[in-house]
Amino acid sequence: MTPSTPSDPQSTPSGPRRNPSARSADPSADVSALSQEEKIALTGGADFWHLHAAPSLGLGQIQVSDGPHGLRQQSGAADNLGLNDSVEATCFPPAVGLASTWSRSSAAAVAGAIAEEALAGGVSVVLGPGMNIKRSPLCGRNFEYFSEDPHLAGELAAAFVDGMQQRGVGTSVKHFALNNQETDRMRVDVDVDERTMHEIYLRAFRTVVTRAQPWTVMCSYNSVDGTPVARNRRLLTEILREQWGFEGLVVSDWGAVEDRPASVQAGLDLQMPADPFGEQDLREAVARGDVDQEALDRAAGKAVALLRRGLAAADPDAAYDAEAHHRIAVEAARRALVLLENDGTLPLAEPGDPAGAAVGAGAGTEAGADADAEGLVVIGDFAQTPRYQGAGSSHVNPTRLTDALGAIRAIAGEDVPFARGFAPGTTDGETDAAPSSESLRAEAVELARGARTAVLFLGLGEDVESEGFDRADIELPAVQLQLLEEVREVAERVVVVLSNGSVVRLPASLRGVNALLEGWLLGQGGGEATADVLFGRANPSGRLAETIPLRLEDTPSYLHFPGEDSRVRYGEGLFVGYRGFDAVDAEVAYPFGHGLSFTTFAQSDLAVTASAADGIEVEVTVENTGDRAGREIVQAYVSLPGSRVTRAPRELKGFAEVELAPGESRRVGISIPVEDLQIWSPAAGGWVVEGGTYRVEVGASSRDLRASADVEIAGDEPRPVMTMTSTPLEIRALPGGEEALGSLLGDSGLFADPEMLKMAEQIPVGRFTGLGGFSREQLQEMLDRVNRG
Ligand code: BGC
Repeated sequence: MTPSTPSDPQSTPSGPRRNPSARSADPSADVSALSQEEKIALTGGADFWHLHAAPSLGLGQIQVSDGPHGLRQQSGAADNLGLNDSVEATCFPPAVGLASTWSRSSAAAVAGAIAEEALAGGVSVVLGPGMNIKRSPLCGRNFEYFSEDPHLAGELAAAFVDGMQQRGVGTSVKHFALNNQETDRMRVDVDVDERTMHEIYLRAFRTVVTRAQPWTVMCSYNSVDGTPVARNRRLLTEILREQWGFEGLVVSDWGAVEDRPASVQAGLDLQMPADPFGEQDLREAVARGDVDQEALDRAAGKAVALLRRGLAAADPDAAYDAEAHHRIAVEAARRALVLLENDGTLPLAEPGDPAGAAVGAGAGTEAGADADAEGLVVIGDFAQTPRYQGAGSSHVNPTRLTDALGAIRAIAGEDVPFARGFAPGTTDGETDAAPSSESLRAEAVELARGARTAVLFLGLGEDVESEGFDRADIELPAVQLQLLEEVREVAERVVVVLSNGSVVRLPASLRGVNALLEGWLLGQGGGEATADVLFGRANPSGRLAETIPLRLEDTPSYLHFPGEDSRVRYGEGLFVGYRGFDAVDAEVAYPFGHGLSFTTFAQSDLAVTASAADGIEVEVTVENTGDRAGREIVQAYVSLPGSRVTRAPRELKGFAEVELAPGESRRVGISIPVEDLQIWSPAAGGWVVEGGTYRVEVGASSRDLRASADVEIAGDEPRPVMTMTSTPLEIRALPGGEEALGSLLGDSGLFADPEMLKMAEQIPVGRFTGLGGFSREQLQEMLDRVNRG
């Protein structure tokens, strides 16, 4: 191992040595140098994880590997479900944890470290990040995805892609697109309206493609509008390449292709894994002329370009510093923990810490330095057997694993007592081999009796959160909730730490504990990170990247998930996550963006400027008003009251992180580019900015908004052309429309009566030949007048 990482665990590691000979070449010369057989071979994998070589160009194979939060490089039996072994690699926080850092620098640091491990393993492309929108908390793969919000998901994914590709390792943003459930994932057909598709589900992909140009995009298993994505021309060619300008290679998800010729024709470049039947099908289809030579040349050209990129960065001497990477994993995990509740119980005092007198002393204990540490008990199997990642193709074999119990004992003393409380690995704690849940619970409750502080580790097992299937509910196991009830009755103070890859319902008994930490999945350094936060060595600064609802039934997609008969309709439309909760003003357990700190922050002096060309510039002063250093996430939400189209009450459009010493204040800027204000116009078939008075709200969560300001934006919507099918209502909304209508109506009295007006204004004007007694010429003259502007 060669040390290669700077001491700051959040800064990205240094770059690899390059092999310049594999680098640049004229892409069209490359393609013409290939034989037809080579081209056909290049459209499919050589095996499970390798691309074919291009011998006539002197280019060897390259290797790809999962996965998003650490390398899953398989040297033995290969699979795409995380079943067989992989070489040891650092297990960083999965996307659910990384996203709750709301930190672009953390995403880049983690990705940079994974890239180093990839180079050391001879891997050229890492199959991630996963960036589908969390449409329902039930999606089994939510732990691999960033957020319910496309802005947050796009920003973090772009930082991740940059962080990795700057090291010479490619990414594969996945799963493009509309893969928001595991139920029937290989067949389900998604029925989604155009605005929702572009504004919610494609938006983050658009951000990452236009901003970071990932080397590859991985297409998903599902169908959209009746066509499997793997051969969906609209998605793979018209949107991805023609609208967004994607320059890289489109790879299939493993096993997504059932018709290679159709896929290549539609825009797919590489079928994975190897499939000799697909290759033969393509050979025959090309010979028949069913696949254009141009399409085959495109696909082969993309594969060659990827080989060149990968080989140029390959470095046989590459190595990485496992210890330094573990520190990066710990630091990311520290930032990921979200403090949901705290009545002052946290941070706990460390033995010998004079602050303990202030923080930890209470009834039944001696006031003094060791108050917390002495009366501390730890309960819950997850404290010693961490739940730190999800199951499936992203499963990493960690280089090491720290458990919270060990880390707590390292701080508070080896004699901190512990009881399992429930059995690990099963949803309800009942296995034949395990002691009964009653006896485990009774032992834990006895331990907690009279304790000054019981720290309880609850959560979900890997068996319920996995690739390949969705969850049935969002409940914590009943045995754990029972344990909590009983511990609360006997311990003086209860702190709960949760481990789960997607939201769980938090009943009042949980929300009512003295402190509640949502740990999500934290990777291999989660144990240390958790202990650091419990004892205040790290100040929690994570924020929720997904709303925690009161009940599953409240979630906007509830009635439309997961569909039936291999079809799902995204009936909630644009109202995903907080957009939906806010639209109906629903109570939630914890809102999107929420997270407490051991210090407090104030936001003031909001200043907002805007221009149609550049978008909105936001500035706000953030002050640390408490007595500890901390990190605040300033969140900027935008809305357009009175918009002509359906919109959520507010949408996240910008955020910034700022670290402040006690008493320090700083001016924080957030730029909202005009693209982020765009909405999709089905009529115009493209993105437009609606003109009007936009409201910008800044705050500490979607429901803790501290200041707001309004700005005018001119907008760029094309003026609609009025025709015989346009209505008086639409005509009057246009500048000059009222006058044009008035000149037509004269003193006809047609719209004089308000009742009449209400009924008539939605009648297409062409019908007024019969209904109003106008001639076609009169109507056309009025339309010409409006259309002249
Ligand atoms: C998953 C992908 C993964 C691929 C290769 C598929 O089952 O959906 O995310 O990259 O397998 O393991």
